[in-house]
Amino acid sequence: MKTAFITGVTGQDGAYLAKLLLDKGYDVHGGVRRSSQPETTRLDLLGITNAVTLHDFELTEPNSISRVIRDIPMDEFYNLAAQSFVGASWELPVYTADADGMAVVKILDTLRTFRPETRFYQASTSEMFGLVQEVPQSETTRLYPRSPYGVAKVYGHYITMNYRESFGMHASSGILFNHESPLRGTDFVTRKITLGLAKLAHGGATPIELGNMDAKRDWGYAGDYVEGMWRMLQQDQADDYVLATGETFTIRQFFDFAAEALGMQLEWAGTGPDEIAVDVKSGKRVMQVNPKFYRPAEVDLLIGDASKAHRKLGWRPTVAVKELAAMMVQFDYDMLALHRSPQISKSPDDQLPHYIWTQDEFASQHSQTGSARC
Ligand code: NAP
Ligand code: GDD
Repeated sequence: MKTAFITGVTGQDGAYLAKLLLDKGYDVHGGVRRSSQPETTRLDLLGITNAVTLHDFELTEPNSISRVIRDIPMDEFYNLAAQSFVGASWELPVYTADADGMAVVKILDTLRTFRPETRFYQASTSEMFGLVQEVPQSETTRLYPRSPYGVAKVYGHYITMNYRESFGMHASSGILFNHESPLRGTDFVTRKITLGLAKLAHGGATPIELGNMDAKRDWGYAGDYVEGMWRMLQQDQADDYVLATGETFTIRQFFDFAAEALGMQLEWAGTGPDEIAVDVKSGKRVMQVNPKFYRPAEVDLLIGDASKAHRKLGWRPTVAVKELAAMMVQFDYDMLALHRSPQISKSPDDQLPHYIWTQDEFASQHSQTGSARC
């Protein structure tokens, strides 16, 4: 049995990766930072909380890094923890540099000292391409980050390559384009849209306030992307890989896909800060722009070329953006329904998406945790 350690195991990707590795027979350990109340919602939703061994872990504390690496014999180390919200990185630039940049070298150097044979995965990002120098973006595209988050991740990316080249460590960097799921944090634009639309469909009246509607992203499904991470660490040679769908859409288009899945029909009017969307059927305003969500510097266009991952890892995405938007908005709609009408939880079979858990797993989780948080 192989042992894996995942930093950020309570996050979107950490939870899906933990589930994947458990299904493959791994002994899975995960790092959780201290908070006043343990937060394991995503692991609960996947029904795996008790199957993962959780350890106190703080990215910005070198002693915490040393302790877990010294104490846990591990074959694979996945560094997924980060201050991952780009928007917050202008408010927290120093913390973001520490957590997303400096922590990576601390981990690598501690692995070099205690466990040089452990295989290492670094969660790099398409945000590093920023003001893109090439379309589509691949492993060889020049980096031009546009946020303190992007800059910190560039350091993490290059130091991973450097430790591979300097010390022969099996250290790989996955340059992942945006990937989403029903477990996505609610600050990110896709989940903000799907949760807001689900509330509106349940009778809510508050329009969703968004920023730049013209930004384009290459969105895939997180479940596919964690499979790619695992495949990177199974290669004889460590390397860097882009994971992406190769398709790009505006925020407005994603909004339309999610609304359509709820049976809404949108009419768009205005431009820039005056843009709004109205659902023709209900007459409700469902979206308005609020410039407070504009970023100091924007990444206008991301579209990835994942041909290296196709060729060398045999990896391909399986969920297209329309299906992804429908999956997420359906989940949010159903979760809200579950909160509102207890009888639905007695017959969840028709209500819940099949992407995350079987109905039995969900039913058992639901009874254990009381309610799933949306
Ligand atoms: P996420 O949902 O925000 O999860 C981040 C995880 O990191 C959470 O478990 C969080 O713990 C933990 N964390 C944050 N600060 C920490 C600290 N100081 N010490 C210890 N743990 C800390 O992010 P995600 O979407 O799963 O992304 C996973 C990784 O991939 C991140 O590094 C992200 O930057 C990168 N990435 C993501 C995408 C994407 O589209 N999702 C694309 C490219 C790269 P709490 O639960 O306590 O907050
Ligand atoms: N969050 C957010 N909220 N974004 C908005 C909003 C809003 O109200 N309105 C418009 N946007 C635009 C942002 O300006 C950005 O261009 C785009 O929507 C996507 O924003 P996010 O969903 O916050 O994701 P991101 O692309 O900035 O970052 C995500 O993907 C990166 C990979 O490219 C995160 O998961 C990062 O951790 C990841 O590295």
